Amino acid sequence: MKLAPSILSADFANLQRDVQVVEQAGADLLHVDIMDGHFVPNLTFGPGMVAALRPITSLPLDVHLMVADPQAWITPFATAGADTLLIHVEATAHIFHAVQLIKAAGVKAGVVVNPGTPLSQLEELLPILDQVLIMTVNPGFGGQPFLPAMAEKVARLVTVRKQLGLHFEIEVDGGVNDHTIATVAKAGADIAVAGSYVFNGAPAHQLETLRAFAK
Ligand code: DX5
Ligand code: ZN
Repeated sequence: MKLAPSILSADFANLQRDVQVVEQAGADLLHVDIMDGHFVPNLTFGPGMVAALRPITSLPLDVHLMVADPQAWITPFATAGADTLLIHVEATAHIFHAVQLIKAAGVKAGVVVNPGTPLSQLEELLPILDQVLIMTVNPGFGGQPFLPAMAEKVARLVTVRKQLGLHFEIEVDGGVNDHTIATVAKAGADIAVAGSYVFNGAPAHQLETLRAFAK
């Protein structure tokens, strides 16, 4: 399984150091949580953060847009250097068009589902997606407990992907730690985001532990 540390829980005053530590520790992606204070009740950073990260790491930047108007932000984040743009199915009435815009911008396209959103909402989108992100907490904050029922949702999506002969990657985000990673690995997730677990300890050690428990 690929591991994607979320910089939401990094030390913002020492961000370059923290990014380099997780890169050297073998992280596969860098997850960047964009929150606008409307779609979720928290506020983080904008395209300038992605532009600042781009020259200091060779990790792919996995940009999770928790914003109320995702279409408006596709070009700014793609231009800033995002490798994947993940947008919430709940955030727009024009999700298909938004995915088309992401692909037209030349970056990978992912769609995110909140815990209460059924997989059926993705049905028409799956063939054009590179990634599906299943939220394993309600979005907005790091450090929340993993919702165990979401593991079954991951397993169901693995089955659907196989039935349809598709190859999008399945990602989980929220509450991933040494106790919960085995559950999502077993369910078939390809990518696990982890914020507080990675950065509230020595990141290299934490990533090594996650990798060990994901087997
Ligand atoms: C939550 C964010 C997550 C967050 C995960 O809304 O999307 O990416 O950083 O944090 P942890 O791993 O602490 O649950
Ligand atoms: Zn996220």
